[in-house]
This record gives sequence, C-alpha cells and structure tokens, in this order.
Amino acid sequence: MSGASLEREGAVGVITIDNPPVNAMSPGVPGAILARLAEAQADDAVAAVVLRGAGKGALAGADIRSFGKPWPEGEPTLRDVIAAIERSAKPVVATLAGYWLGGGLELALSCHYRVASRKTQVGQPEVALGFPPGAGGTQRLPRLAGVEAALAMIVSGKPIGAPEAAEKGILDRVIDGDLREGAVAFAEERIAAGPPHALARERTPELMDPDVFAATRKRLERRARGQRAPAACLECVEAALTLPFDEGIRKERAIFEECMASAESRALRHVFFAERAVRKVPGIGKETPVRPIESAAIVGAGTMGRGIATCFANAGIPVRLMDSDGQALERALAGIRSEYEGRVKRGRIGAADAEVRIGLIEPIDTLEKVAGADLVIEAVFEEMPLKEEVFRALDSACDAGAIIASNTSYLDVNRLVDIVPSRRGDVLGLHFFSPAQVMRLLEVIRTDSASPETLASVLALAKRLGKTAVVAGVCHGFIGNRMLEGYTREVRFLLEEGASPVEIDSALTGFGMAMGPCAVADLAGLDVSWRKRKADAHLRDPSKRYSAVADRLCELGRFGQKTGAGYYRYEPGSRTPVPDPEVDALIAEVAAESGINRRTIGADEIVERCLYPLVNEGARILDEGIALRASDIDIVWINGYGFPRWRGGVMHWADEIGLAAVHGTIARLDENQDHWEPAPLLSRLAAEGGSFADVDRAA
Ligand SMILES: NC(=O)c1ccc[n+]([C@@H]2O[C@H](COP(=O)([O-])OP(=O)(O)OC[C@H]3O[C@@H](n4cnc5c(N)ncnc54)[C@H](O)[C@@H]3O)[C@@H](O)[C@H]2O)c1
Repeated sequence: MSGASLEREGAVGVITIDNPPVNAMSPGVPGAILARLAEAQADDAVAAVVLRGAGKGALAGADIRSFGKPWPEGEPTLRDVIAAIERSAKPVVATLAGYWLGGGLELALSCHYRVASRKTQVGQPEVALGFPPGAGGTQRLPRLAGVEAALAMIVSGKPIGAPEAAEKGILDRVIDGDLREGAVAFAEERIAAGPPHALARERTPELMDPDVFAATRKRLERRARGQRAPAACLECVEAALTLPFDEGIRKERAIFEECMASAESRALRHVFFAERAVRKVPGIGKETPVRPIESAAIVGAGTMGRGIATCFANAGIPVRLMDSDGQALERALAGIRSEYEGRVKRGRIGAADAEVRIGLIEPIDTLEKVAGADLVIEAVFEEMPLKEEVFRALDSACDAGAIIASNTSYLDVNRLVDIVPSRRGDVLGLHFFSPAQVMRLLEVIRTDSASPETLASVLALAKRLGKTAVVAGVCHGFIGNRMLEGYTREVRFLLEEGASPVEIDSALTGFGMAMGPCAVADLAGLDVSWRKRKADAHLRDPSKRYSAVADRLCELGRFGQKTGAGYYRYEPGSRTPVPDPEVDALIAEVAAESGINRRTIGADEIVERCLYPLVNEGARILDEGIALRASDIDIVWINGYGFPRWRGGVMHWADEIGLAAVHGTIARLDENQDHWEPAPLLSRLAAEGGSFADVDRAA
C-alpha cells in the first residue's frame, strides 16, 4: 500500500513515506502525508517530526509519467504538503537517503531542518526535462545555498553529494551510522534547543557576485541556443533575489507552467522515455544467457580500430589490436598513447591510470593471435571482398563460441555470416561512431541468424563500454547512415541552387544541430564518400538529378580539414572554417553547367529540405522493421549525429509538426524534384491522422 505512516519515538513523530520503488509523489501520497502531519500536530506528546522515505530512503518527487496529465480533482498536491510543513508549529526534519531530487528536494527545502546519510545525492534536475522546479525550489534553494550555488545547480540540473550539500548550507547534518536513529537524535536536540526553527522562506538569499546572472545568461546564449528551460531556470532564481518570497513563488509557478506546456519539454520527456524503451529488445529478457566478454580483439587499427580499442581499455577490458600494415599499427599505438597523455595533461585522468589503460592494449602481428578472445571486431577498409577474406581467416583463428562483429558502416552483414556458416549465431554488426572513444552511440546490427545470447551479450557489453546501444536490422547504412544520404544529397542540391556552405551550416546550427553538414563533411573527410560514389557510379540512375559539387571539390584535392580545404578553408593548425570564394566560384560553375538558375534560399527552406529527407527515410526504416520503434531512430540521431535533444529527435520532431503537414511539403517537393517520393508509411499515417509514436515493432 502506498501512503505514509506515523510512529512515535519519545517526543519525535516519525512519518515514513511509502510508495515503492522510489517514493514518488503520485496522487494519494501527498494526501497521506498531510493526514499524518495533522495527527502529529494534534498529538501533544509529539514535539518534532522526522520525515523520511521507506525502503532505501529516496524521495523522487513527481512521477514523470504524470507530467502534462491532469492531477485528480480535489487530490492534495506536493505544494499542499509544503504549505502544511511551513505552517507547522513543530519543527520538521527531512531525513534524506539515496536520491532526493526534483520535488523530493523541494519538499526537504520546505522543512525546518535537513539531515542526510553520507551517500545521499540532492539536485533539481527538472531542466533536463524542459522546465524549472515548480514547487518552490528556485526560491528556497538560493536562500539556503546562496544564489550562485543554487543557480549553478538549477541551471545545470546536476545533483551533488551530501558532504557538498552540507558545506553549501543545504543540509544541517551528514549522518554516519543508522540514519533514522541519527535523525531522531537530531530532532531531540532541536526540541531541547527550542525555537526559533527558521524556515528557508524567512531567510534572505545571499549574492556574492553581482555579475553572475549576466555571465550565466551569456553562457546560455552560446551553450543552450534555442532552448527555453535553462533561461527559465535563471529567471526564477533571479526572482528569488528581486521579489518578496510569495511573489517569487508565483512567478516560478507561472514560468513552470509555461515551460511544462512547451514543445521543448514534450521533446525532452519523450527522449527520457525513449532512452528507456531502446533497451527493450524483443526476444531478449532477463532469462537470456549472457556470455562473459573478458577479452577482445580488433582487426584493423585505422581510425575506428584505434578508437574502439580505447573504448575497451577505458572499460578495463584487455584488448588486442592487429593491422596488416605494421606502420598503421605503430601509428595507432602512438596515437592512443598521445591521446592518453593529453588527457593526463588536462587533468582528466591520473598518469598511473593512463598507463594501466595503455597496458590493456596489446598489439599483435598476426590474425591467428586473436585466438582466446571472447569478442573479435573487424574494422578493416570498407570493402566487401576484404571483409570476406578477414572473416574467412577469423573462422579458423577464433575460439568456438567467440562473438565476431563487423564495424561496417553500410555493408550487408548477412553476407559475412555466410562466410562463417558454423558460427551463424555468433555474428553481428557493431557499428561504432567516430571518434569511437567519444561518441555514445553504438548501432547493434542484428543479422538474420544472430542468437539471442549473442545479442544479449553485446548489449551487456555496450553498457560496460558506456554506450547507448540501438538495435537495427540489416540494410544499406542501417539506421543512421541510411538516413544521412538524403540529407547530404539535399545539401549539395541547395549549394547548386544558390545557398552557400555558411548559409546551410548556420541554418542547421540555428535549428539546433551540433554542427552544420558542410563543416561535418570537412571534419570527417570528403574523400571517403567520394571514393564510394566513384565505386558505385555504375549503379546510379542517369535519369535522376546528380550534383557533382562534392566530386569537383575532391578533384581539387580539397578533402576537408586534413588537407586544409574542403567546403571551407582552414588556416594551418586551425579547425575554424573560413568561407572560401574559390568554393563559391566552383559551385556557381557546376550550377551553370547543369543549367540551374541560382536564387536566395532562406533558412527555413534549408532546414526543411535537409531534414525532411531524414523523416521520409526514417519512415521507411520504421516500416521495414529496421528500427523497432520511431523513438530508437530519435536516439540514433541525437547520440550519433548531433540532432538537438530538446527537439526530441527526427521522428518526434516530425510528429510535433504533424505528419499531414510534413507529408504535404514532401509531396509538393516531389512534384518539382523526382527524388522526394513520400514513404508509404508517412502517406498512410498522414491520411489517418496518426503519428510515428504509434508504430511499435517491439510491442
Ligand atoms: N571512419 C569512420 O568515421 C567510420 C565510422 C564507423 C564505421 N566505420 C567503418 O569502420 C571500418 C574501418 O574504417 P576506418 O575509418 O577505421 O578505416 P581506416 O582506413 O582508417 O583503417 C582501416 C585499417 O584496416 C587495415 N587493414 C586493411 N586490411 C587489413 C587486413 N586484411 N587485416 C588487418 N588490417 C587490415 C588498414 O591497414 C587500416 O589501418 C570500415 O568498415 C568503415 O566503414 C568507419
């Protein structure tokens, strides 16, 4: 039964809030607390109250699933409990353990005192869901912790540990040993000391640095461009300083409600649930056996092999690294060492720790030496015959039961399975993103024959590596890269039609993308896709429009940052893109050759033209079952391609616009350009008034 109980320990009434698993403030719980508080008030033998959470002692605040939904009519709320505590003549001691976040911390802040076990974490993480705290956190925290500390906590959303919270004045005591006993003892001390028992609301917020708001605003303009919630948090904390308490509370509530109803908050809440849904994979459950992966080997020590080896070393897993080119292997090892040394210099890790990690990477000179590894990842050049050759060699070299994975970006992993027929269940794709030691995304490519055990094992491994794994089916480019093709195609067409690289990049960073596509291409290197286009030239449909812009740049040796020039030029040693008139001239020339009349193109059109192909291809990927659910596609684009989290990912963004509107635009573009055919699923959902969120292949 969820609710709250009251027990008496001498003169102390102990109220225990009980709503497993994390004592969230679901409907019914605030009412139960109010009833127990009233009983404690009425009991003359009770002189003080201890308020604690059952179980491990956490208090989670509001139930995230209830956000945006109406609260049951007449049912008391957290704010009613807070008001009752502040009216209480008897001091209330909040007793914290585990996580006291959001509404949980707000409840604690309204109490007369706060004590906590040493491992407790407190924080106001609301900003991550697109709104400020709404039950007084922005008004009470500055009064206890000081304005600067409160502002930092509320704007970042990051929790802090109990010792730090005590130092800041948020907690009155950190208790080692039995928490309940310690809290009761603390309450007895307060009874003995007698009034006054000051409330946060009665204090004046302390400001040390009068520039803190201006400085934070400036930082947010850069770091949180386009987002409302971080600035909303700042406005609320500022109100704590400029307005009387009750007016500050009203202002906080108004801003909270405005933010709660925003598209930004809907998007962030969507991502919160998407991150949980992505872990659910049909056919994989708690009962699925997991093979231990205690050692790994990587074949191919290029850009990816080196980064993947670093991932394993960072997770403490010994990894062997092999390359057929001895010099490439030497370069990889030297690169890994210098990267670790850089991290030591910047104070990110200790020197001894770096040596331990470097020591976990063992170079091997022949492929046979992968024997004994629990997992082998192939990361050689993106050429099918070469990968087939490597798989043949792995078939003889690997132990029985070893998992064999390919890091291919596009190729058919089922074909690689056919090379090792006796190991059908053990093969899949593990598509890391570059730089592999930094990027969180890992596409796990489920072949037709991969066993549930293999899949469960790599999903468990992904967690150890700190990666967000998304399961995808086999197709050309899987989820992310397959969608990328339409995006980059449209960038080239827009260049021909009159937009400059700067205009395209600023339209998309203005939308919220981490980087513009031209700058990304320069960073990744234009030559890789150029080689691929040349190899696939015979597959191209000559009746379809083709832009030679990128090819022509490559013909000039402009491969991007590594050659000092691509879509932009780069000063020696600099990574800052500088617009280049030579590129503008070249694009104008290519456009003239194709008979294109160039025009001015606005940012809105650039965003639509570049991002709607993602939605359209995403719809096909969902329809074909390559992705299990639309929200998995969102996770891929947020974690692998810099799509703004606060827009909820590609598919959620389209759902927000409305699929009928998206479909209408794509159909209109299709009338003028032959490559815009709306995906069947998009057409169907648009006609039915449906949304991508309703499609779940995992259900
Ligand atoms: N670079 C990226 O951004 C990226 C991202 C994800 C996936 N991938 C994929 O990862 C794979 C590797 O890409 P990369 O960018 O690291 O390539 P790369 O050219 O940097 O490195 C490939 C390495 O493989 C080695 N190699 C070639 N044949 C070999 C053999 N028979 N045995 C052992 N080693 C051999 C080469 O010497 C080279 O060092 C490709 O399939 C690519 O599509 C690349």
